[in-house]
Amino acid sequence: MPAKVILGTQWGDEGKGKFTDLMADDAELVVRFQGGNNAGHTIVFGGNTFKLHLVPSGILRKNVTSVVGNGVVIDPAAFLKELDQLAEANVETGDLKISDRAHVIMPYHKTIDGLEEVVKGNLAAGTTKRGIGPCYSDKTARFGMRMCDLMDPEEFRHKLSVAYPLKSKYIQALDGDIGQTMEEIFDEYMALAERLKPYVCDTSVLINDALDQGKNILFEGAQGTHLDIDHGVYPYGTSSSTVTGGCLIGTGLGPKRLDKVVGVVKAYTSRVGTGPFPTELFDDLGEHIADKGGEFGTTTGRRRRVGWLDLVMVEYAVRVNGLDSIVITKSDVLAGLDEIKVATHYTQDGKDVHHFPASMPDVARCVPQYHTLAGWPDLTSEEWGAIASKGRDGLPEGLKAYITFIEANLKVPVDVVSYGPGREENIYL
Ligand code: IMP
Repeated sequence: MPAKVILGTQWGDEGKGKFTDLMADDAELVVRFQGGNNAGHTIVFGGNTFKLHLVPSGILRKNVTSVVGNGVVIDPAAFLKELDQLAEANVETGDLKISDRAHVIMPYHKTIDGLEEVVKGNLAAGTTKRGIGPCYSDKTARFGMRMCDLMDPEEFRHKLSVAYPLKSKYIQALDGDIGQTMEEIFDEYMALAERLKPYVCDTSVLINDALDQGKNILFEGAQGTHLDIDHGVYPYGTSSSTVTGGCLIGTGLGPKRLDKVVGVVKAYTSRVGTGPFPTELFDDLGEHIADKGGEFGTTTGRRRRVGWLDLVMVEYAVRVNGLDSIVITKSDVLAGLDEIKVATHYTQDGKDVHHFPASMPDVARCVPQYHTLAGWPDLTSEEWGAIASKGRDGLPEGLKAYITFIEANLKVPVDVVSYGPGREENIYL
């Protein structure tokens, strides 16, 4: 299976980092295709803890080329800071590649991100304030700066001279201050460009050539399906295409070249931003799950909202991504509960709803309908380890029934259940 995609099926933070890292085992290229430094995952590797936001997780592996595709938006200073941190830990980053078509996050994008959130009031998504939305807006409105423009001082100055006065006026209208002169931005970005230059190339050629040569590639999704610009909880999601289709667009790849799409499902649901969340738990149980699951954002440190697993959400992800298989994460967090609930559908104004609605007021009115299953015991790491080798047969009865229920509802096989953050803490079914 040369070309595999891994992506999140919920609102991000499903625990993709660990499986991305595992699936990178036989990959020669690991490719990011969307998002920017709004993403974040923690990888424990060789005794060091790395918090990566922009650099693909393959960077920690020797003989893996990490690629940042054209669908990603790059904050040059943040990117270089990550590279510096990796260099301090003696991680080799020389082989990294960045698409010459990837868009560049400008200082005014970050300023606008914060100001627009205030203006939006209860329509604000609770963004990471990394300038992601304003950068993608400029991309679509064709005011954007691409990496190839950043590499060309004349072109960069020309484009900046058009964008800067407009952005300055817009920021003023939002009662803000652009904070830098055009020359200051130009000088800052030219210095950053110098350092980025060795990494920039046409990554679509690189990726397609690698597939022609039979190399294994892992495409690493960031965020999750329900944050997707088209398929997510608009306007409470992010601004990129987080779904399988985004992988094609965000890398320059034809649809027939993908071999397998794996969806990561957390055993419960979590959400870091605002917007309706049908299965949200507001009680002590919610507190318990959030604490036990360590539900605090890698990028912002915010406490995540949590709730029961919502199969209406996951069905949407199965459908729009064309999932071939599922991995379930954090099953240990639910362990020890007497009973576990799973939302199978909603009711809205007396009617059954089986597909996630487009309208946010509709989603807010949806009442989840639960199927209740027996829980499973809270095992020690050793006890989990002892049953892990037995695969599906070794699973505690409650967890086995939970997995079987998910598979029967979604009609997609569950390949792996993870019971802890460690690389080896998995049960292969
Ligand atoms: P933005 O991507 O910073 O514009 O934020 C838009 C929405 O997506 C907010 O609700 C964020 O909390 C959410 N978001 C962005 N990146 C992530 C992520 O990596 N995990 C979870 N939520 C995210």
